Amino acid sequence: MAKRIQFRTPGGPEVLEYVDFEPAAPGPQQVRVRNHAIGVNFVEIYYRNGLYAPSSLPSGLGSEGAGVVEAVGREVEGLRVGDRVAYGTGPLGSYSEVHVLPAANLVKLPDAISFEQAAAVMLKGLTVQYLLRQTYVVQSGETILFHAAAGGVGSIACQWARALGAKLIGTAGSAEKAARAKALGAWQTIDYTQEDVAARVLELTDGRKCPVVYDSVGQDTWQTSLDCVAPRGLIVSFGNASGPVAGVNLGVLAQKGSLYVTRPTLASYADSAERLRSMADELFGMIVSGKIKVDDIRKYPLEDAALAQTELFARRTVGSTILVP
Ligand SMILES: NC(=O)c1ccc[n+]([C@@H]2O[C@H](COP(=O)([O-])OP(=O)(O)OC[C@H]3O[C@@H](n4cnc5c(N)ncnc54)[C@H](OP(=O)(O)O)[C@@H]3O)[C@@H](O)[C@H]2O)c1
Repeated sequence: MAKRIQFRTPGGPEVLEYVDFEPAAPGPQQVRVRNHAIGVNFVEIYYRNGLYAPSSLPSGLGSEGAGVVEAVGREVEGLRVGDRVAYGTGPLGSYSEVHVLPAANLVKLPDAISFEQAAAVMLKGLTVQYLLRQTYVVQSGETILFHAAAGGVGSIACQWARALGAKLIGTAGSAEKAARAKALGAWQTIDYTQEDVAARVLELTDGRKCPVVYDSVGQDTWQTSLDCVAPRGLIVSFGNASGPVAGVNLGVLAQKGSLYVTRPTLASYADSAERLRSMADELFGMIVSGKIKVDDIRKYPLEDAALAQTELFARRTVGSTILVP
């Protein structure tokens, strides 16, 4: 028997139950991992509250974790019992002492990276890898706008952008959060609860605006993002922290200057074992070389997953949050 978090019906944090379950034996191409640390991400709130639907109920929750391989399916190659591994692309159910998942979703963890660091960066750091290095290839000297820059994904983006030599303008919900984003590498910050973001971006870019805007806040920042992107620029709308962007009239993209928009997911970038491993290699390289630091992690016991989600949803966190079984 082992313990996990599950939910039977969508709802608030109170629907999360901490229960006993019997872990399955891994199928032929699967691996069973004993989690040492588990990542908490905003996407799990979308699953819990019904914005996204799990494949069945009751459902486990969570897509990210790090631990040790404890059983291996008979067709799995390249992984052995005892290997240190990490994952960030699901399937749902990582809020658990043990998780069974396809071997293709696992990467081996370098010794220099702890389980807690890995659980704090796999989903968020791989996301930053594709956002800055694939969706739009950020160049040295470019000025980019990144919303929620003090959050989990944002804290990694600030550091990665600085390492690329880019000037990241980071928005954040308080002066303290803005200061954190700046300390991590943002070139300039804007407290979007107090300041006119579009006006400040115009000023900071000498009227040119940004070639790319990264927006995971969604509903509340969509209009602002449209006003901050340069003609023929790209809005990367990659999340819904304030609610989904809906009902967009495509004509607005013409009015604002022949804009491009994409709504990407990590799953469609890390869609093969080879691509996942090459993205993870780049992420781990950034950490091992010290360009990205992951030493400020908020931790909760696994059974307090509801509390961890409550804090994240209420905008009371900065950086990454993890659960420890
Ligand atoms: N598409 C993908 O592949 C992908 C992958 C990973 C994450 N994401 C998205 O990226 C975002 C960040 O994820 P994360 O796990 O690192 O979370 P996070 O950034 O640590 O937390 C979300 C942040 O959004 C900001 N926010 C603005 N309006 C909000 C509102 N009404 N309610 C709650 N928060 C609000 C808050 O920062 P301020 O207080 O500073 O505003 C909050 O701290 C999420 O939207 C997530 O879904 C997408």
